[in-house]
Amino acid sequence: MEKRYRNFKIIIKDSYDNTSSAVADIIADCINTKANTVLGLATGGTPVGAYKKLIEMQSAGKLDFSRVTCFNLDEYHPIAATNDQSYKYFMKDNLFDHINIDPANTHIPDGMAADVQTECIAYEQKIAAASGIDLQLLGIGMNGHIGFNEPASAFSRVTNYVELEASTIEANSRYFDSADEVPKHALTMGIGTIFAARQIVMMITGAAKANIAEAAVLGNITPQVPASILQLHPNVMLVMDGDAAKNIIARLA
Ligand code: GLP
Repeated sequence: MEKRYRNFKIIIKDSYDNTSSAVADIIADCINTKANTVLGLATGGTPVGAYKKLIEMQSAGKLDFSRVTCFNLDEYHPIAATNDQSYKYFMKDNLFDHINIDPANTHIPDGMAADVQTECIAYEQKIAAASGIDLQLLGIGMNGHIGFNEPASAFSRVTNYVELEASTIEANSRYFDSADEVPKHALTMGIGTIFAARQIVMMITGAAKANIAEAAVLGNITPQVPASILQLHPNVMLVMDGDAAKNIIARLA
């Protein structure tokens, strides 16, 4: 099912697997059109299926990452790259170690940076030096965050050092042994950085995200729901499963 709402193209699939395939196809089209695509990538449970599909496509010879550059949205701080909960580890484990991308072209904020402000400025400069992001993949946090831009973040902000909300620490603690082990801070592209991407693909799955998806897509544009700013972006695709889209489907019917 496809729907349009304002500038959003909304693609709704009947399962997580088919949602993952749709996202992977959009990314593959981008790379097949422009071999030196600059991708913005996301972590979390949501995109894992799409990454698996991309790995399969590359193994089947249908995709070539050799000229692709990637910038990840965010990283906890402090966290060592060897920690299996770091986003650096996640990306290697779920994508980079299984495709023919040049590791030198994969960028993630340094979770052990001693000077976080310098690291944030350098990250923003690296994105600019790559001529910006062609396609930014996003998930969404339960409170509407994108990257680690928590509610009330300024829409104009670029890469920065942030304090995580208690609710985000709680939500992400499912991946750690306990909530105490979740770092309290992170380095994240700002909403301004994300908004500058030429194309945005937001993937939302699962009934638990139905309310926040509805608020982001159909609600007021407000810093209290960081993803709501995407209503103003000229090129956004929302790829959702029916569970995540159920409130939106009901209201747009
Ligand atoms: C983290 C990441 C976000 C991600 C969110 C949702 O907080 N910083 O980029 O979108 O988690 O994760 P999940 O897909 O596991 O629900």
